[in-house]
Order: sequence, then C-alpha cells, then structure tokens
Amino acid sequence: MMSWSPGSWREKPAKHIPSDYPDPAGLAQTEAALSTYPPLVFAGEARRLRDSLAQVARGEAFLLQGGDCAESFKEFHPNNIRDTFRVLLQMAVVMTFGAAMPVIKVGRIAGQFAKPRSSPTETKDGQTLPSYRGDNINGMEFSADARMPDPTRLLQAYGQAAATLNLIRAFATGGYADLANVHRWNLEFVSDSPQDHQYRAFADKISEAITFMKACGVDGRSVRAIGEVDFYTSHEALLLGYEQAMTRIDSTSDKWYDTSAHMLWIGDRTRQPDGAHVEFCRGVENPIGLKCGPTLEPDELIRLVDILNPANDAGRIVLIARFGAENAAAGLPPLVKKVQAEGRNVVWSCDPMHGNTIKAGDGFKTRRVDAILSEVGTFFDVCLAEGAYPGGVHFEMTGQNVTECLGGSKEEVLEADLSSRYHTHCDPRLNANQALELAFILADRFKERRAAAAV
Ligand code: PEP
Ligand code: CO
Repeated sequence: MMSWSPGSWREKPAKHIPSDYPDPAGLAQTEAALSTYPPLVFAGEARRLRDSLAQVARGEAFLLQGGDCAESFKEFHPNNIRDTFRVLLQMAVVMTFGAAMPVIKVGRIAGQFAKPRSSPTETKDGQTLPSYRGDNINGMEFSADARMPDPTRLLQAYGQAAATLNLIRAFATGGYADLANVHRWNLEFVSDSPQDHQYRAFADKISEAITFMKACGVDGRSVRAIGEVDFYTSHEALLLGYEQAMTRIDSTSDKWYDTSAHMLWIGDRTRQPDGAHVEFCRGVENPIGLKCGPTLEPDELIRLVDILNPANDAGRIVLIARFGAENAAAGLPPLVKKVQAEGRNVVWSCDPMHGNTIKAGDGFKTRRVDAILSEVGTFFDVCLAEGAYPGGVHFEMTGQNVTECLGGSKEEVLEADLSSRYHTHCDPRLNANQALELAFILADRFKERRAAAAV
C-alpha cells in the first residue's frame, strides 16, 4: 500500500466532494488558514474513546451515537445544543439502567455539516441548481447565489463547532450532567406526556439510589463518574479538505489524529476501498465508523476493515449497519457471519434511520418510528444469532419538539402533522419524545436479556 499523508486522499477518486468552487485558490487559502487553527479535540480524548469502544467490542459496554442529520448555521443556538445534549443524557441513563453497563455517549454534533446527496442538482419550477450540500459548503436557499460553494463557510463551521464543543464540555463536566440532576434534565414540552411520567418514575429510582450513596459518602464530588460524563463528538468525514486541515501529529504518540472530532465515519456512498475517503481515514488514529448498507458484499467489508484496521485492534472500527427494516433480516447476517468467521474485532452498531426514509404527507421525507424500532429489533436478533454482540445504536435525533418522523406511541406524529414543525436541513430526526421512547424500549430489551441470562 502506498505511503499515507494527510493529503494522500487527493490522489484517489473522491465522491461527494464539490469540485465547483468558483475560486479554488480561495479554498486552498482557507484550508491553509484552518490548518493553523487550534485543534477541536485532543488525541488523548480520541484514545480514551477507542478504549471505551474496545470495551463495547468485548460486550462490556454499549454505544449510543446520535444527533442531527445536518447541523446548520440557522439552528445554532445554546438552547438547541443543551436540548440535544440533555436528551442524549436522558437516553443514556435510561439505557445504562436497563443494560447495567456503561453507555458510551457520542454526539453527531460539533462538526456534522457536510452531506452526500443523491443527486448533484435539484430542479424546481424548471430551474436547475446545484444541490444543497451542507452549511459548510453552500446555502439551502434555492438560488444560484446560495448554492455556490463558498470557502468562508468552512471558517464559520469551524467556529460553530468550537463554540458547540465548548458548551458541551461545560455541560459534561461543570455540574449539569451530575446524576443528582436526573430530574432536572426533563424538558418542558414533555412534561405532560406519559413519556414524562415514565421518565419521572425512573428518575425517582435513580435519585433514591443517589441519595443512599450520598449518605454513604459517595457523590459527584468524590466519584467523577457520578458528577461528570464523558461525551464525545463525531461526524461524517466527507469534506476531506477540511478534515486534512484539522489533522495534526500528536506529540505524545507521534501519530496522526484528525482533531475535528473524536470519532469520524465513512458514509455508505463513499466507502470505496480505493477511494479518497477510505484513504484519508486509514491514516488517522481516531475511531472510525463505517456505514454498511445493502450493497456491501462480505468480502469487500473484510477488505475495508483490513485497510482501516490492519492490526485488528478492538475499538478502532464501528460497523454501522443501515439496511432498512425490510432488508435487515436478509442483508445483515452474511456480513456479521463473515466478520465473526474471519475473527475481526469490531463494534457492531445499528443506524435504523437511513434505510427507512420514505415520502409521506405533502411529499415530506420522513421515517416511521415503527420501522426504526423494527430494524433495531432485527439487528439485535441477527447479531445474537450469529454469536456477535449488538453493541450500539446510531440515531438522527434532536432535543427539539419537531414533527419529522411519523409515529411514537405517545403524542403520535401523524402525516398531517409533518408540516407543523419540520425544521431539518436534511433527513428527518426523532424528536425528544420519540428518542426517549426508543431508549425505554431498548432498556426493556436489555433487562429481558439480563433476566434470560440469569436463569
Ligand atoms: C448520514 O449518516 O447522515 C448518512 C448520510 O448516512 P449513510 O451514509 O448511511 O447514508
Ligand atoms: Co441523514
């Protein structure tokens, strides 16, 4: 294999990276400027996440990854960051309780901007323009001006990622995430829903345990795991010019880390073994996710895993299955079987979002909570049947009370509701109620499994 450098991807075919910047010299200048900016994350943090993911690979922890499909400049607000963080915390604590094991929390946040699109152009009323590719590339508004790629957007995205991460760090370690606050994490708008009653009853149990432990002298001050959380960031490593600019040598290990996020993933549309995205990701030490969709063959999967993780280290690779509820039962087993047979150390996670996108209502892109749940169920069944550990879930979700996904047993979103609060810049997200409901259902599954294992 040829030698790697942060820019060696430029010699490879690259899909979904815009080549129509009107001012390529301006883009190069912006990337050069970014390469001198402070890192957003530290190598040691990415290493700690790898260690935690190795725990998941061994079946001793569970991975919860979630957040926006695409962050946007418009939705950038401290309340939005807080609410997404808070729902992830709530989900994690519910799942920790159910699974009786650590839940590793990774946000699709602080850098999740660039999107692969199914078509490079969009036509409306007879006018054809370049597709929207994410706020760090061009604007969503349907005008020739907005759709022109603009390198200054990279600087704004970097700034937003830095400010977002700064707030998240404060929430994670500044007292907000202390388990003693488990009641306070409740969101206003869920406060009358049955979901909320379920959460409150659950939070009562935790509070009781926390009060008891405090009486024994154990609290958030004495034990870091009670008073703070480890919260990691992730995004799709799509726009490689930006990722290259953020890639630095770590002086402790002398190895390359992409300091734009703790974890990066390769999308289902850019995972060609000879392509630019795999080339870039193979050389950085961050944990790497790989989306596995219906067109991925078992042999190709092994090839990819070996390119990305030649040392077969546990914690380096997260395989994120995204088949769709209808395809998972047939499509996933050959992949899991092959990885098991070849003895590759990976984390298996399930993205039940991207294979379940449909159009409904007035042409809204949406997803049914039922389909999402069904795919997660199939994922668990398949992994267990093949002797693999179902190690994680990957959701597109938000703390906002949006109406983007259909269903949910409480406060059900109907087709007619979709238009009322449909705010996503790309794919439909679970709202806070729907996300929390999924966490409770997952927790119940974990509990059943633990009970079955105990008999
Ligand atoms: C995504 O995670 O937003 C995405 C585009 O997923 P996939 O590559 O699996 O389609
Ligand atoms: Co998406």
